[in-house]
Amino acid sequence: MVDVAVTAAEQALPLHVAVIMDGNGRWARARGLPRTLGHREGARAVRRTIEAAGDLGITHLTLFGFSSENWSRPPEEVSEIMSLIRFYLRREIAEMKRNNIRFRVIGDRATLSNDLLSLIDHAERETEGNAGLFLTLAISYGGRAEITEAARSLARDAAAGRVDPDQIDESAVRGRMFTGDLPDPDLLIRTSGEQRISNFLLWQCAYAEFFFTDVLWPDFDGTALADALGEFARRDRRYGRAVG
Ligand code: FPP
Repeated sequence: MVDVAVTAAEQALPLHVAVIMDGNGRWARARGLPRTLGHREGARAVRRTIEAAGDLGITHLTLFGFSSENWSRPPEEVSEIMSLIRFYLRREIAEMKRNNIRFRVIGDRATLSNDLLSLIDHAERETEGNAGLFLTLAISYGGRAEITEAARSLARDAAAGRVDPDQIDESAVRGRMFTGDLPDPDLLIRTSGEQRISNFLLWQCAYAEFFFTDVLWPDFDGTALADALGEFARRDRRYGRAVG
């Protein structure tokens, strides 16, 4: 259980936190273990982080589980990550229901296996009425692909006469994103010391605060999340306005 009082007192809580979970491989290497064990430990960190996010009063949590570029990893590693996601969904669905978590997957579903797709559909259906933490898992996700698909779908509608090109504004584009009905992330966390966005939520993170930590993902926990929230509370978000 994380100390909620401190963060609530700061009165600058990010409602939507997005996380690039990085460093599973390095965590394993540092222990002389195979990378797959790093991913397994990473899955435990996923569970801890979801629990801590709920305790801390975050309303939306979006996790980068697998990028469209991750398909180019060795097939055994891809298969291990997919198995972990399947295992996680099978095991955690009851827990998500108990904890009032609403679950959604974003990404290119056409690339996912049928058994994973049916687990995802099941988890999304079973939790769609829940009003607690909104948990989004990005699988086979790429930000540029998402924006490209939004452009394609608007272009199709314009060509068919359903949309007037001159009426296309930011809210029309937003509406075609996987996350069209979600608030933008306030805070983007990346673990493992890397400082880049790696094609994650490119549109949505336009005004997010970025927080980079050296903690490797398998070591991430409620304390590390609370540290990120503490730093967020000290930031001055101006959305392009002058310092005032
Ligand atoms: C980055 O570490 C992590 C990934 C590419 C996969 C994330 C997967 C998990 C956290 C486990 C399964 C997920 C769920 C939702 C149960 P890396 O392999 O790039 O680490 P490295 O940069 O140190 O090599």
